[in-house]
Amino acid sequence: MNMMKTFFQYTIFLLLTVCVYVNGYAQIIPQPNQLSFGKDTFIISKKARLNYNIADKQILEIFVEKLEAQTGISIKTESVSKQKASIILTEDASLKSNNEGYELQISKNSIEIKAATNTGLFYGLQSLLQLSTFSKNKSKKIALPTAKIVDKPLYEWRGLMLDESRHFFGKEKVKELLDWMAFFKLNKFHWHLTDGPGWRIEIKKYPKLTSVGAKGNWHNPDAAPLFYTQADIKEIVAYAAKRHIEIIPEIDMPGHAAAANSAYPEFSGGGSKKYPDFTFNPGKEGTYQYLTDILKEVAELFPSKWIHLGGDEVHYGNHKWKTDSHVQALMKKQNLKTLRDVENYFLHRMKDSVLSLNKKMVGWDEIVDANIASEESMVMWWRHDKPKQLKKALNKGYETVLCPRIPLYFDFVQMDAHKWGRKRRGEFCTLDKLYAFPNSLSIAPKRKKQFVKGIQANVWTERIQNEDRFDFMIYTRLVALAEAAWTQEKNKNYENFIIRLKPVLDLFDKNGLYYFNPFYPELTPEPIGVGKQN
Ligand code: ACM
Repeated sequence: MNMMKTFFQYTIFLLLTVCVYVNGYAQIIPQPNQLSFGKDTFIISKKARLNYNIADKQILEIFVEKLEAQTGISIKTESVSKQKASIILTEDASLKSNNEGYELQISKNSIEIKAATNTGLFYGLQSLLQLSTFSKNKSKKIALPTAKIVDKPLYEWRGLMLDESRHFFGKEKVKELLDWMAFFKLNKFHWHLTDGPGWRIEIKKYPKLTSVGAKGNWHNPDAAPLFYTQADIKEIVAYAAKRHIEIIPEIDMPGHAAAANSAYPEFSGGGSKKYPDFTFNPGKEGTYQYLTDILKEVAELFPSKWIHLGGDEVHYGNHKWKTDSHVQALMKKQNLKTLRDVENYFLHRMKDSVLSLNKKMVGWDEIVDANIASEESMVMWWRHDKPKQLKKALNKGYETVLCPRIPLYFDFVQMDAHKWGRKRRGEFCTLDKLYAFPNSLSIAPKRKKQFVKGIQANVWTERIQNEDRFDFMIYTRLVALAEAAWTQEKNKNYENFIIRLKPVLDLFDKNGLYYFNPFYPELTPEPIGVGKQN
């Protein structure tokens, strides 16, 4: 009964708050960076016609498809003359200082979107789609108040990482995620495809990586093999590209290699009691050939210039290197004094492989200590409790993506009462902390800001074993992530964001997502997880 009452109150509140402009803000997430309103109205109906002369017609197909799905209004995609058109898209080279930016003008008689690039036009269309989706829609007519938006992103890297080694979600769930990322103008999908519990990408030269290495997951070592074929990968890369999202693959090394080692134990460097078979063997020449062959196939599948090599937490399981005859021989030959020297040697060798494939290397923040040239690599700062590592990365001139555990790990709980998911020394990842990022970060040296490429949330999936938990841990926070990554500090306002979030949650409902409701948590109870409870 109580639940019904809360639900009723919530619905009333939602109805009252759904209007496209709220206290000087637009019902667009991420909030645009410049915005003014007029007093007239423009109506979109099925009679609306487009005019364009652009290279990438796919952005229109996506717009028309989503407009129909969210509002029921179906418009034709072909281009008509400017006089007959009500939505005009123009490529305008004079805006080229601003790669991903766009201008959106809603006048009494037409809507015009201008941008220097197709990506900018795509984002202009996403803003129009959001205004249309969230406006009151009466008998298939949308009334949009006149307005002018001049917009561009704060950061060029607006990312999300998904770990599919611990649990595998598959093509349809990933495509749905890419759709929502595009809707919120997120543009980098970092795909963690290999780790201890499962190897998830087909490599033709080494078929056992998937026939053996893809078996099992974090909570069930006997689960049937699940992985992406190369055809699946190509399909998803193309799907993302159509939505102006770049996919960056991660093949984690030299640690987190247990799944690969179960398939090809001859390249194992051993592990520890807690993490058996954790590493590749850096002492065997064959390991470098094997991993380079793998990267060759990866490089062909992903057009991104980046390949992520991991490089994290090697000390969890490199103990056997101390006694392994191949590693010992390498240390002697190369005059390596410590296991850290061996790790650095390995990273340099694999970085050279990445460069030989005309790609550049990305690594977790441990690689800052490997002295790889800053022109050859990019760093992801994840250890929020090691701010010095971030300072070091920026001082050494590495392009750096900020993805500290607090507040950007979506496997952390978002409410104290939640039972499955991580906390660290009592801390977890709430919406407000995420929204305030990165302005809340006092440690990024101001002078070195030019090296901060952007921000990224990371979804590790040990405790995310089904689609409900996937939605629950990701979607509400994804909305805040988008605004933190796009909107300039002076245009951010958490109270207003919360108002704009409510209709988004309603839209999530309509689209069948099991999101976390921060306003009425009892409406969306935490789905049961796996492993130990907090
Ligand atoms: C990490 O969380 N091990 C990058």
